[in-house]
Amino acid sequence: MTTRMKRQADSVLLLGFLYLASTLATIQAVQYSGPTEAILEGQPWRINCHNPPGNQVAWRKNEQEIAQLKTGEIAVDPLKNGTSALYSNSAKEEHMGKYQCAKGNESFTLEIKSAIKYEVVVKEHLPLNLDCENRTGNEKVLWFYEDKPISEYLKGVSKPSVQINEHNDTLSITSTTNATGTYVCNVTGIANASTTFKIVGKPYPAIFPRSVTVVEGEKLLLSCTDDTHLPGIKVQWEFASKNYTTDEGRVKLLRNGNVNGGTLSVENIGKNDRGDVKCYLGYDWNKFDDLHVSGKAELTLRVKDRLAALWPFLGICAEVVVLCAIILIYEKKRNKSELEESDTDQSPDTKPTPNKDSDVRQRK
Ligand SMILES: *[C@@H]1O[C@H](CO)[C@@H](O)[C@H](O)[C@H]1NC(C)=O
Ligand SMILES: *[C@@H]1O[C@H](CO)[C@@H](O)[C@H](O)[C@H]1NC(C)=O
Ligand SMILES: *[C@@H]1O[C@H](CO)[C@@H](O)[C@H](O)[C@H]1NC(C)=O
Ligand SMILES: *[C@@H]1O[C@H](CO)[C@@H](O)[C@H](O)[C@H]1NC(C)=O
Ligand SMILES: *[C@@H]1O[C@H](CO)[C@@H](O)[C@H](O)[C@H]1NC(C)=O
Ligand SMILES: *[C@@H]1O[C@H](CO)[C@@H](O)[C@H](O)[C@H]1NC(C)=O
Ligand SMILES: *[C@@H]1O[C@H](CO)[C@@H](O)[C@H](O)[C@H]1NC(C)=O
Ligand SMILES: *[C@@H]1O[C@H](CO)[C@@H](O)[C@H](O)[C@H]1NC(C)=O
Repeated sequence: MTTRMKRQADSVLLLGFLYLASTLATIQAVQYSGPTEAILEGQPWRINCHNPPGNQVAWRKNEQEIAQLKTGEIAVDPLKNGTSALYSNSAKEEHMGKYQCAKGNESFTLEIKSAIKYEVVVKEHLPLNLDCENRTGNEKVLWFYEDKPISEYLKGVSKPSVQINEHNDTLSITSTTNATGTYVCNVTGIANASTTFKIVGKPYPAIFPRSVTVVEGEKLLLSCTDDTHLPGIKVQWEFASKNYTTDEGRVKLLRNGNVNGGTLSVENIGKNDRGDVKCYLGYDWNKFDDLHVSGKAELTLRVKDRLAALWPFLGICAEVVVLCAIILIYEKKRNKSELEESDTDQSPDTKPTPNKDSDVRQRK
């Protein structure tokens, strides 16, 4: 009776405590403010964190330390009047991610977009039309290829892969041969603007090493590259049936040469991680599925049992045990038969010494 009442009282107390804790948690919730749209590369950005619990601030990106903090690319404004800020004066694509100033499930997602427009030139998508941004229709449009006026470039080639459409001032790429490079469109008029296009070939990624077996609990390290090594290339890794474009938990995407995220590093590999690992390379985050413009490489990850390395050793031990057992049994049998033999030899005889000698000689 008393124990039951006590138990009831305990659960009431517990419920009350949980309720208190939950209301406290909602009051204490962190709030974030920052850019609501993707930031253009090179532009500044700033994320504010308001009311972190316990007035403790520890900025993290994708649940990890912020590597760019060390290089000064990203800086912190310490907590003042309940607000701390994380900022950069020049956005880079690798600044993209999920930011937090305190533990909890609230976060702020920062998006960065490239100022350069990447277009993959493939036969299937010809002609590829390029149009300047922010045109009203009355301005003068000039096209440049690798910093030279397009007219100059066209004069120098026998079979041009581009043409200017005079009536609407657009540029069309009509052939994939020698079409890659940087095209700039300059608009002069009411507003001066310039748009930079990088025309690139389709990437053909490969994963290194070509085949990999990881022992349970150890680290996986793979790199994904393409012969062109072009800046601006984007990487997505598919690992354990999940896609990653940035660090998350034990999955880290590291820089590999020019390629941001070109190396996949995963700590503490487990049995559930075995299976296909895929690397997607492309120039548009939303087009990894379009194999006309993006490339894909695959590899099968094998995970070895932690004990697997022990098996050969255990096998040798087992062999030794079996051998010892055989020797023991054999020895026992021999002793027994020797005893029996000497028993039969000795019992009727009265003159042991010469007989035994002959016996031995006979056996030999
Ligand atoms: C501190 O924050 C409160 C409310 O957020 C605001 O009213 C006050 O002006 C701030 N004080 C300073 C010194 O910024
Ligand atoms: C945050 O966590 C709480 C409790 O763990 C949960 O109730 C809530 O739905 C979560 N919010 C989000 C946005 O995930
Ligand atoms: C400009 O002209 C070319 C060739 O006639 C055409 O293919 C393209 O669609 C036009 N572009 C625009 C934006 O009107
Ligand atoms: C492509 O460019 C290279 C080097 O500039 C040149 O040697 C080659 O002839 C060009 N190909 C065509 C088809 O124009
Ligand atoms: C294109 O325009 C931009 C800004 O209007 C200017 O800075 C740049 O020098 C121009 N480029 C060329 C090649 O004229
Ligand atoms: C655009 O560029 C032209 C020539 O470089 C210049 O004369 C003009 O003032 C510029 N217009 C604006 C709005 O900046
Ligand atoms: C076009 O206009 C938008 C909005 O005003 C601006 O953000 C963008 O930088 C402009 N693009 C170029 C190439 O000037
Ligand atoms: C990962 O992304 C690729 C390309 O967009 C898509 O085909 C695939 O289904 C995705 N995988 C998962 C597990 O979401």
